[in-house]
Amino acid sequence: MTTTIQPRRFLRGLTPYIPGKAIAAVERELGLKAVVKLASNENPLGPSPKAMAALRRSLADCPLYPESSSPELRDALARFHKVDPASVIVGNGSDEIIRLLCEAFVEQDDEIIVSQYAFIRFKQQAAMMGGKVIEVPMVDWTHDLRTMAKTASLRTKIVFVANPNNPTGTYNTEDEIAELLGAVPFSTLVVLDEAYHHFAAALPGFPRTVPRLLERHPNLVAIRTFSKAYGLAGLRVGYGLADPELVGWLDRIRMPFNVNLPAQRACVEALKDSAFVKRSVALASNGRESLAREIRALGLEVLDSAGNFVFVHLPVPGRQVFHALLKHGIIIRPMDEYGLVKSVRITVGTPAQNRRLLDALRRVLGPARNAP
Ligand SMILES: Cc1ncc(COP(=O)(O)O)c(C=O)c1O
Repeated sequence: MTTTIQPRRFLRGLTPYIPGKAIAAVERELGLKAVVKLASNENPLGPSPKAMAALRRSLADCPLYPESSSPELRDALARFHKVDPASVIVGNGSDEIIRLLCEAFVEQDDEIIVSQYAFIRFKQQAAMMGGKVIEVPMVDWTHDLRTMAKTASLRTKIVFVANPNNPTGTYNTEDEIAELLGAVPFSTLVVLDEAYHHFAAALPGFPRTVPRLLERHPNLVAIRTFSKAYGLAGLRVGYGLADPELVGWLDRIRMPFNVNLPAQRACVEALKDSAFVKRSVALASNGRESLAREIRALGLEVLDSAGNFVFVHLPVPGRQVFHALLKHGIIIRPMDEYGLVKSVRITVGTPAQNRRLLDALRRVLGPARNAP
């Protein structure tokens, strides 16, 4: 029997987000062991041991509901960033913050501006609310913020900017972001998703968003995550920083108990372990340089990356290389979802994982290049 019940009309054309393939799935499907996942920009060092210790200690509290608004973590983040706790909202991954922003602020037919090849969740989530998504072409694989600003009008509710961007790994400078903030109407939210900011902080002109830009612009929302440099993707914790009035709206519509207690406690400890974050950043920045160099030596084009991943253009379909690498026990990310069928994104691993990837890539690309 087929049902005649229809979802809301804005949901009808939507396709689900395609996550990186899981290690367990590859091991199950191909009967392989020791599979390496370089597909979701996770931290190859794992999490801080201090965060893990807090996680284990808090397991005893699992029979109880957590405090609903994650107050310990919220206060810790406020101290860490030197902002008012009322400016902080904690979410089930930064994905939840993106969702809350769209649910709270996007009315049907509101314009939402994103860059071509910007992190795909922005346009997916805005479209679910009936928003009209306007995509502005990139220039040199980088957000063209000047054209995005010119495109904004009083009809524009949100301009989303991922900085650095996933999947391209490119970034915009503080001057460019400040110019965008100065140009859009006061009624337009600028959402700056800085999931990868740790890996870009040392690059020339990278913005000091918190607290500098945040203090000056009440229409700015900064988004951060514990999934990348902190190595806690499985716990699902992200957060937003914004004017308390904006945060108040997000807080009103989030699910009660949206972040579980062990995750809250682990993140409080993760924030304190700056030595661990430093190690993660060093591993990613050294790794991305050497991976880019070695992959370029194979004759492929690799974009300069400000993240913990590299974006590679191939002479053959990315999905073909993805499947070939799976057979070598390596998972990378094809970019079909972005309409980039001859590109892949590869997360920087440990030096040993990177070497394994490069060996496999050399073998795979030999025959692949000769393919019709
Ligand atoms: C730019 C960007 N923003 C947000 C997210 C979501 O991260 P999470 O929900 O794990 O915090 C990701 C995940 O890859 C990302 O690349």
